[in-house]
Amino acid sequence: MLNPKPTKGKTDWFVRDRFGMFIHWGLYAMPARHEWVKQREEMTDEQYEPFFRRFNPRRFDPEHWADLAAAAGMKYMVITSKHHDGFCLWDTQHTDYKATNTPWGKDLLKAVVEAFRSRGIKVGFYYSLIDWHHPDFTIDRIHALRNHPQREQLNVGRDMSRYRAYMKKQVRELLSNFGKIDIIWYDFSYPGADGKGRDDWDSAGLEALSRSLQPDIIINNRLDLPSAADIYTPEQVQPRGWVHVDGEPVVWETCQTFSGSWGYHRDEATWKSPGQLIRMLVNTVATGGNLLMNVGPTAMGELDARAEAALRVYENWMNGHSEAIYGCTASALPAPADCRLTQNENGDALYCHIFAYPFKHLYMDGIGDRIEYAEFLHDGSQIHFSVDESKVARLELPVVQPPVEVPVVKLHLR
Ligand code: GLC
Repeated sequence: MLNPKPTKGKTDWFVRDRFGMFIHWGLYAMPARHEWVKQREEMTDEQYEPFFRRFNPRRFDPEHWADLAAAAGMKYMVITSKHHDGFCLWDTQHTDYKATNTPWGKDLLKAVVEAFRSRGIKVGFYYSLIDWHHPDFTIDRIHALRNHPQREQLNVGRDMSRYRAYMKKQVRELLSNFGKIDIIWYDFSYPGADGKGRDDWDSAGLEALSRSLQPDIIINNRLDLPSAADIYTPEQVQPRGWVHVDGEPVVWETCQTFSGSWGYHRDEATWKSPGQLIRMLVNTVATGGNLLMNVGPTAMGELDARAEAALRVYENWMNGHSEAIYGCTASALPAPADCRLTQNENGDALYCHIFAYPFKHLYMDGIGDRIEYAEFLHDGSQIHFSVDESKVARLELPVVQPPVEVPVVKLHLR
């Protein structure tokens, strides 16, 4: 078993809990065609304004979101306090561009935090370093106005030092007014020509501020400041093994979407299948990582039927299998064909997740003499096995796959 590089933030709960909910919510739920819509369609503030004027998520029910997350087995959540469009979900004192000034009129962040926390779910804030609304944020290569004919003139008078001060005031609010915050998820840096990185954000200052206000807080790796990173966050990819940085294993979390978009996207059709959703979670834990699974609530404030169904997939599977996820990590033992292994911390429980169900027999190499007992996890039924001279164990499976997305055999090891 690998021991990841130590972190400044408190990650012991994090690597135990393994599974969280990402929430991308903001004005972009109204156009409903990706959270980058302002940028992709090169919209001006005026063109984006109707969403602000009409934002009124009248079926917003954070208690229900939190119920779904808890039922799915998610132990922490990370929500977009502000995304790249600059719109703030909380009643910040430092801009008018916030939920309390829309027809909805109320703080959305507080309500979400309270609902999740009351179910024992830890709280993280995503905070966009990028801001396509703030008047001091200079127009760069990914800005919504990057191709605007008056780009040069529009950049005159913009002052990133004022924007840096604004970010600090906002981060101070976020990390002072909402109780204990477990994660701050800064997004993102794109240093180099016409981009922005650590000096544009004052990443060192943001790190110091975050840790001074919330000493245990976990900071992600998108500040363009390697020394600030507690966790690494590969996005929309499945790493093939434990994530290493400069040759060292690190604490990591992959973030993924149910379909291809983070913000609610009405017409996006690449929703992942139930089997794929479970395999993503298993693959992640079997390679030593966490999974942050995203939902994009609608402009009405609801998780649409597709998202709710996807969360139910996790609920159904986690009901019988969460012990193979929580407190588990990668195993150094060789996995049988078409299987993934997770193991508990002290290594006396090994979980064999069967991705492609075989015919009758499952062979485990080299550990036959260590198996004391074997059972299916979903129903606790005994699995018979025999061991040959070369310590290969042959597990006797029923011919028909049990009715679960990914069956798991628990091996109690000596
Ligand atoms: C990207 C995107 C963003 C999304 C994030 C989640 O960096 O800019 O829209 O919030 O990934 O990881």
